[in-house]
Amino acid sequence: EKATVTPLFSNVADSVTIPAEIYGQFAEHLGTCIYGGLWVGENSPIPNTSGYRNDVLNALKELKVPVMRWPGGCFADEYHWTDGIGPKENRPVMVNTNWGGTVEDNSFGTHEFFNLCELIGCEPYLSGNVGSGTVEELAKWVEYITAENGPMADQRKKNGREKPWKLKYLGVGNESWGCGGSFTPEAYANEYRRYQTYCRNFNGNRLYKIASGASDYDYNWTDVLMKNAGRHMNGLSLHYYTVKGWNGSKGAATKFDNDDYYWTLGKCLEIEDVINNHDSIMDKYDPAGHVALIVDEWGTWWDEEPGTVSGHLYQQNTMRDAMVAALSLNVFHRHTDRVKMANIAQIANVLQSMILTKDGDMVLTPTYYVFKMYIPHQNATVIPLDIKTSTRAVRDGRTVPTISATASKKDGEMNITLTNIDLDSPAEITIPLGNDVKASGIKGEILTAGNIDDYNDFGSAEKVTLKQFDKVKYSKGALTLTLPAKSIVSLSMKI
Ligand code: AHR
Repeated sequence: EKATVTPLFSNVADSVTIPAEIYGQFAEHLGTCIYGGLWVGENSPIPNTSGYRNDVLNALKELKVPVMRWPGGCFADEYHWTDGIGPKENRPVMVNTNWGGTVEDNSFGTHEFFNLCELIGCEPYLSGNVGSGTVEELAKWVEYITAENGPMADQRKKNGREKPWKLKYLGVGNESWGCGGSFTPEAYANEYRRYQTYCRNFNGNRLYKIASGASDYDYNWTDVLMKNAGRHMNGLSLHYYTVKGWNGSKGAATKFDNDDYYWTLGKCLEIEDVINNHDSIMDKYDPAGHVALIVDEWGTWWDEEPGTVSGHLYQQNTMRDAMVAALSLNVFHRHTDRVKMANIAQIANVLQSMILTKDGDMVLTPTYYVFKMYIPHQNATVIPLDIKTSTRAVRDGRTVPTISATASKKDGEMNITLTNIDLDSPAEITIPLGNDVKASGIKGEILTAGNIDDYNDFGSAEKVTLKQFDKVKYSKGALTLTLPAKSIVSLSMKI
C-alpha cells in the first residue's frame, strides 16, 4: 500500500477547534466502574486519597480528562441523589436493578463525584433522573450543587462543602426511549421542556442542557425532539455502540478472526453516516448549529469475560479496540461543527475502558494509550486532510479505508495521527507539506502489537504500549514513513 496524506493548510482558516470534550469519559454505577475502579473508600488497604485510588487518579490526571459523565447510563434514571449525601452510615442501600442486582450502598454520591472532578481537573456532566424521578428532585439537585444560599445550599454546607460547585453539563434523562422511561419522542419532548424549565442558573452558574437523544439509527427521535423542544436545549445526545447486535452473543473481546476484526472497523466507521444523518435533521430545524450533537455513549461492546459477574459488562480490551478508538476520534474530528462532546463508555472496568482494576492492581488498556496519543488534538484547530488510500470491502457491504488520519495545529505545532488497519502489510506514507511550511523538531510515537488480539493483563508486562517512533524522513518538503501493519502513529512537529 502506498498512501498520500496531504494537509490542506489553506483550508485551516475555515476549520473549527476540536473541543477537548470530544475526549470525555463516562462513569456509571455499574459493575466495578465506581466501586473498586475509581473509589475504594478511605479505609481501604489500597493506596488512596480520600477514598479515590491513587493509581487510577494518577492515570486519569495524565490523560487530561476534560469531562466526566455520571451517574449513568440506565442507573441515572433510578438514582435519587438525596440517598448519596450526608453521613455514610445514614445513606440508604438500594438494589441496582439495571446492572446485575448489585447492592448499592450510596457511599459514592454527589460530594464524592464533584470532589473527584476537582482532583482530576475535569468538568462534571450530570445525568438527571427523569424516568423515576420528579421535576422537583432534579431542580433541587441543581440548587444543592450550585446555589450560594438557601435551604439546599445550607444542607450542602452542613455536609461539608461551603462553596458551591460549578455545573455546566446537565443531561435531562438518559435513553428516555428505553431504560430511561420508555417514552415516545413526543411525550419525552414535553417532559424535557418541563424538567429543563426548573433547572435554574444560580449565582452565575450557567447550565448547558442536554436532552436525551436517539440510539444510533432512530432518526425520528431526533426529528421530533428538534421540532418540539430544540429551542430549549444546548445539546441533544446520541448513543452508538460498535456491537454485533443486541440479541445473542456479541463476540469475545479477545477471540476473533480477521473477518470479525475488519467487520468491527466497518461497524465503527458507520458512526459517520449516523452522525451525518442526525446532523442533517438538526440542520432542518437549527441551520445555525446552536444545538450540539453530544455522543455521550460510544465504544465497543463485547460479551462479558467468562467468570465475571453477569450484568457487570466487564470486558478486556485489545489492539482491535485501540483501532476502534482511533477511527472514532478521527470521525469526531471531522464533525466538530456539530459534535461538541463525546463520552466513551466507560472509564474503568466497564465496556471499552481506559483502565481495568483487580484489587490493588491496575492495567492501562490499549484504548487508554490511544487517548493519551491524541491529547495534543484537544483544543487544537483541525487541519483538513486529503487522503489517497485503498479501501477494503468488509461484511455487510461496507468498505473501510486502509489508511485513516487526522491532523491539527496548536501553538505553532502540528500533530498528525495515522492509522494503518491492515493486519499484514505495512504502508508507505507520503505527507507533502509544501514549500511554504518548514517542519522542525519532528517526534513520533507508535502503538502497535504483535497480534491484533494482544491486550494488557494483570501481572504481566504490557503487550500494547506507546513506544518512540523515529523512522520519519523529511526532505523536499515532504514527510515519508512506513506505517507498520495494524499500527497507530502520531507525529508532532513545529511548523
Ligand atoms: O453503558 C452501558 C449502558 O448502555 C448505559 O447504562 C445505557 O445508557 C446504555 O444502554
